Amino acid sequence: MISIKSNREIELMKIAGRINFETHQLLAKNIRPGITTQELNDIADAYIRSQGGIPSFLNYEGYPASICTSVNEEIVHGIPSKRKLKNGDIISIDIGVIYKGYHSDSAWTHPVGTISEKKQKLLDITKEALYRGIHEVKAGARLGDIGYAIESFALKNHLGVVRVLVGHGVGTNLHEDPDVPNYGQKNTGLVLKKGMTIAIEPMLNLGTEKVYMLDDDWTIVTGDNKPSAHFEHTVLVTDDGYEILTGDE
Ligand code: MF3
Ligand code: CO
Repeated sequence: MISIKSNREIELMKIAGRINFETHQLLAKNIRPGITTQELNDIADAYIRSQGGIPSFLNYEGYPASICTSVNEEIVHGIPSKRKLKNGDIISIDIGVIYKGYHSDSAWTHPVGTISEKKQKLLDITKEALYRGIHEVKAGARLGDIGYAIESFALKNHLGVVRVLVGHGVGTNLHEDPDVPNYGQKNTGLVLKKGMTIAIEPMLNLGTEKVYMLDDDWTIVTGDNKPSAHFEHTVLVTDDGYEILTGDE
């Protein structure tokens, strides 16, 4: 079932989104060679709670941390640990916040120190792919329009598009209907309606689109161990477009 949010629900999702965005900004300031992913986790956990939010990933289907930290070839669901970030790494940070029962979900990928040109291109293209997808959003547009915008831009830039993981509806649950794939055809799929809230989240790889899971049963890694990037926003569908709930655009 796809829920249409009331104005009251949208107001709560905006607060959850604002806390999420501020947590990302705070982590961005702390990312540097030498910091551990656990330290980033703890900074995020404390900030989210200080704002009256709850980190939604903690205990989600048994997930053992408050955020996901995925380094280099790790695509998503990397578990924070004593691992120290190194100069030249990239790190994807994925954050979920619940505020008064409403969820926000957002991911950014950051450089650590100085990174290669290839990695920088991967970050730039993945971020732009997210915004190209978002720019398709409005009442009456279709899910295939979003997927096509993301996939065609990624393929033009010779990146692998992860298909086994997709975006999703967001609201009183972290994951709701509908699925929001990062691939598709124009003019196909579900028609968007005003008041739907969806997470759009391209995951693009410098190499193969294939993935595998590490023995920790969470971390999803690229099939060829080449780097991957992930950008995600929670977005509200409006009559003439969209509102990004986890950003400042
Ligand atoms: N933001 C992630 C997604 O939408 C969800 C992470 S769930 C966790 O795919 F359990 F891994 F934290
Ligand atoms: Co998500």
